[in-house]
Amino acid sequence: MKSAVRTDDYVEDDSSRATPLVLLIDDSPVVRDIVGASVVSWGYRLVSAATYREGRERFDALAPDLVLCDLGLPDGDGIDLLVEMRHLRLDVPIIVLTSDADVGRVLRAIRSGAFDYVVKDQQLELVRRALERGSRQLELARRNAELIEQLAAANERLESTVEARTAELQSSNAQLRAEQRRLREALQTVEETQDQLVQAEKMSSVGRLAAGILHEVNNPLSCLLPSLTMLTEWAEALAQDAPSSAPFSADEAGEMLRDCLAGAESIARIVADLRTFTRREAVALTSMSVDAVLTPTLRMMLNRFGREVHVSRTGPADVSVLASPIHLQQVLLNLLINAAHAIQATGRRGHIIVRIEPSDDFVDIDVLDEGTGIDPAHLDQVIDPFFTTKPTGQGTGMGLSISHTLVGQMGGDLTLSNRPAGGARARVRLRRGEPLPPLDA
Ligand SMILES: Nc1ncnc2c1ncn2[C@@H]1O[C@H](COP(=O)(O)OP(=O)(O)OP(=O)(O)O)[C@@H](O)[C@H]1O
Ligand SMILES: [Mg+2]
Repeated sequence: MKSAVRTDDYVEDDSSRATPLVLLIDDSPVVRDIVGASVVSWGYRLVSAATYREGRERFDALAPDLVLCDLGLPDGDGIDLLVEMRHLRLDVPIIVLTSDADVGRVLRAIRSGAFDYVVKDQQLELVRRALERGSRQLELARRNAELIEQLAAANERLESTVEARTAELQSSNAQLRAEQRRLREALQTVEETQDQLVQAEKMSSVGRLAAGILHEVNNPLSCLLPSLTMLTEWAEALAQDAPSSAPFSADEAGEMLRDCLAGAESIARIVADLRTFTRREAVALTSMSVDAVLTPTLRMMLNRFGREVHVSRTGPADVSVLASPIHLQQVLLNLLINAAHAIQATGRRGHIIVRIEPSDDFVDIDVLDEGTGIDPAHLDQVIDPFFTTKPTGQGTGMGLSISHTLVGQMGGDLTLSNRPAGGARARVRLRRGEPLPPLDA
């Protein structure tokens, strides 16, 4: 039997840490020697104590892995020591050594937390097995402790990850809410802007319509007024019974009155047509004589611009086109007034020629003038609504735009160009109408 390692001999070094350290507490030197020697021979490290106090101190100081503890110690009850040690370190298996098989005390010891018990005078082999089980128990307890530690660390990591993710989610939630708020505001702005646009478009249409009405009524009116002034002078001369001082004959006065009537009717029709116009209904096409509208229109021009402008018509008579008479008259009047204004702008008296040129399928009605011509930079714009080079109050810039639309609705085309010799050419191209019935039919 190997000799026991005495308490005093025990020196802990790094290499010894892997081997379990057994604290053997027993007041009997014989037990300490025999059991101690066996413990060492089984491969454990050993430290011994002979009393309660010594055992308690060594337990504290050396932190043994296993304890063999006698219940009958000279300076105290082994069970009390057992309770104290359990209280200090729950994981250390404490194996109780009893000198007799006092079942009551053994039971108390087990209830107080003893891992196992061995009766001293039995075989040492039982001590070895108890120590082996204790070692395994210790290892399991330590492994458990490690696992619990790892679990706690993992839990902590998880908690901090969850915390971080929660914080991230909260902040991205807040961002989402802010983004949602921004989008709602943007949507509201878009809706408001849309409303404003619709409103602006409505207002612009109303404005455009007002300008159109003004223009269409103004043209016949501008021919009517000078004619009526002259007719008034004529009537006054007659009233004074001085027909010789009258500026023109009764026949001429009658003709002027008919033109005035035509102008007034034209205004009445324009106003009556307004509903159709605002509804943008298609113009009603009929096969009609160009002269049916051209002749009164030229007469109105003569009355209005007779002093500055000479107007004439060339081309075959009795040419028919597919058109809406009231609208064609409106177009021709617009073009003739434009031509007259362009001639006025030169400061000289000039000619306007209305040239009628039929071809197989079309009829061109050209209004040729000796005016200023159109600035080449403006040629692409003159048809645009509101484009005008006239001073404010003298031109709305709607004449060509409306004429272009109307000619288009009649299935034709309106183009503006400059004449090589100077002045401008406005061309109305319309589809040919049915041949006109002979006049005496
Ligand atoms: N025969 C022409 N010769 C020279 N310039 C012309 C002629 N016809 C049109 N224009 C140019 O085209 C512009 C637009 O003509 P448009 O008839 O559309 O409007 P406006 O005559 O200016 O005004 P309004 O709406 O009263 O007719 C004119 O201001 C003028 O600059
Ligand atoms: Mg005009």
